[in-house]
Amino acid sequence: MIEDSLTEKIRKNPDGYIKIHSDEAIGLLGGHAFHCLISRGKGLTDENKLNLVKGRIKYRIYEGQARNLIYNEETHVQGCYEFVPSSFGRIEDAINYILRLKYKTGHEIKNFVDLGCGFGNTLILAYWISKTLGFSLENYVGIEHNKKACKVAEKFIREFVPWDDCEKFSIICGDITKPLPEVCRKDSFLFSYVPMHDQELLEALYNNVLDSIKSNCLLMETDAKSYYPHLIKKRGKKIGFVDTSDKISKYHSVWENRPYYKNKTGFFILN
Ligand SMILES: C[S@@+](CC[C@H](N)C(=O)[O-])C[C@H]1O[C@@H](n2cnc3c(N)ncnc32)[C@H](O)[C@@H]1O
Repeated sequence: MIEDSLTEKIRKNPDGYIKIHSDEAIGLLGGHAFHCLISRGKGLTDENKLNLVKGRIKYRIYEGQARNLIYNEETHVQGCYEFVPSSFGRIEDAINYILRLKYKTGHEIKNFVDLGCGFGNTLILAYWISKTLGFSLENYVGIEHNKKACKVAEKFIREFVPWDDCEKFSIICGDITKPLPEVCRKDSFLFSYVPMHDQELLEALYNNVLDSIKSNCLLMETDAKSYYPHLIKKRGKKIGFVDTSDKISKYHSVWENRPYYKNKTGFFILN
């Protein structure tokens, strides 16, 4: 079986295999073979599997052709960005914040939500990064208005996530400027990576998030202009401060927005 011989090679020299054979080898593997590799690959650690997933995502999603076929004039919505994937470091930061919140305040996040999830890459990486850190959330939810991208995201999830955990994932075809589903309102991390460039739409999105959430939510935007502090203050709310002080992840993206935490008593910025 192709996946058995690959597993053996990767097991013997995991980093070397990826370096020598490149992401292309992993990218060219059939979907079923890849799924078997990350589900049943004997002797592979979660770290090895995360590396394989990163390599395949890079080849199939970041550099793949699917983007041009799915985001085109017909599907374009005025004021919205099309698919540009977020950086690995940004997703790693998000997962670090979930851990730090629990460590510093005891509050647990159960759902990871990507607002404008595109092909589901951020959800998949969030799952694998949390796994390498020894935990898993209850739900990984993506909301996306491009119907074809939703289908691709569902396919990628079946390919990149071990069968038993696929049920933790859901892709909701919908508009993130409209009231958010119940699963996003409590114990949730709400992640967004530049879904729109139109300022009015962005304000509508972040106002909608603030209207929708109830308690115990972490909000992280990656827009150059930070909308949350401005909108929270406009609502007459003060923003407190939670010092989680440990060093932030070594990966950084160009934008450095810290997440905002909402609990029953108010809003806090997590430093
Ligand atoms: C820049 S991509 C980010 C993709 C993904 N979140 C990531 O981290 O790689 C923005 C995505 O948001 C989607 N989007 C934009 N406006 C939206 C809206 N109003 N409702 C739902 N999805 C939207 C786009 O179709 C696109 O897939």
